[in-house]
Amino acid sequence: MKKKKLNFKKVFITLVLMIIVFFVSPKIVYYLTTTETQRSLYQLSYQKACTEEIISNKRDQYLIEKQIYSPTINEACNQKEYKDKFFDNYLEITYVNNENFILKINKLLELNYSAKEINQIYQTLSDEQIDEITNKDKIDNLTTLIFQKFFNFNNLERYSNYQKEEKLNDQETVLYVELDLDIPFYTTDYKSNLKDEYLILTNKYYALSKDYEPNDLVKINTAYTNGKTRTIRKKVNEAFEKMAKAMTSQGMMVNVVSAYRSYATQNQLYNNYANRDGIKKADTYSARPGHSEHQTGLALDLNSLSNSAFVYTKEYKWLKDNAHKYGFILRYPSDKVHITGYMFESWHYRYVGIEVATYIYENKITFEEYYLEFIK
Ligand code: DAL
Ligand code: ZN
Repeated sequence: MKKKKLNFKKVFITLVLMIIVFFVSPKIVYYLTTTETQRSLYQLSYQKACTEEIISNKRDQYLIEKQIYSPTINEACNQKEYKDKFFDNYLEITYVNNENFILKINKLLELNYSAKEINQIYQTLSDEQIDEITNKDKIDNLTTLIFQKFFNFNNLERYSNYQKEEKLNDQETVLYVELDLDIPFYTTDYKSNLKDEYLILTNKYYALSKDYEPNDLVKINTAYTNGKTRTIRKKVNEAFEKMAKAMTSQGMMVNVVSAYRSYATQNQLYNNYANRDGIKKADTYSARPGHSEHQTGLALDLNSLSNSAFVYTKEYKWLKDNAHKYGFILRYPSDKVHITGYMFESWHYRYVGIEVATYIYENKITFEEYYLEFIK
């Protein structure tokens, strides 16, 4: 009887001791060996190595107060790539669960990209693109260039060089490079695409072949040509007739002084100008052979007075705001010389169809910009 009682007591005491040893004492040890700050950081999910870094960088109070858990910091602290000098940057960088994330952000930080820029880079670029960036010099304005209309990652270096050269803003830089304006005129071998039909682009980059001649040229009513024989593509002629009727019915004069021009004609014309004024000057107002819109059979020169005085006529004033209703655009406007490469030509109208002409008119853009946005 006595023996049994003793056993029961022993078992009870052993159990209590075991509970103390296994459940309570680790907690006591934990409390005795950690500070309150460490415990708060652990609670936020920071690992041990990271907790030390946070405390030594004196960011503990801030993180605890705001209850901030940064997976980027937590990841960085546990890696051999961890760099103390980037501590604050890590804190600002949104974590991305990618291979070598810390290694890559280190490289970007070394290149002097800010944490904010790095967040944008990870939001907008693919892994391969980020790799490419990390292996290049820093691209100034990268994160603002990215958000520009027409941005193309493959042209980043061209943007960077052209922006420096020309002191352009980001919007201009991307647009101009996409229009190839960083390449000197007449140095490309781009071909005008005949499949574009009424939206063929022919300019100082895109050329027609020597033997291209539209197969649907028709004669323009000689009432509008001062009796001369001039030709233009059939559909353009129909649109032109409607426009001419509207103009004459409002007491305006319609005089087509040039329409379709063959390669040979343009060649002769350009050479005459170049001989008279020199190449540099001639290039501002005359296209080199193969590069003239007149060879497309889609352009008309309308004049009631000499070219330079046409801008002062009621015909020009009307055309400026009405030509698009008939499918024509003022092809070389005064404020787009830097894009078209030609001086203002108040007389040169290009057929593109009513819908496209209206879009170009309403958005105050050039045909080059339209082509880039919708056709290229
Ligand atoms: N004058 C225009 C640009 C041409 O020669 O086609
Ligand atoms: Zn012209």
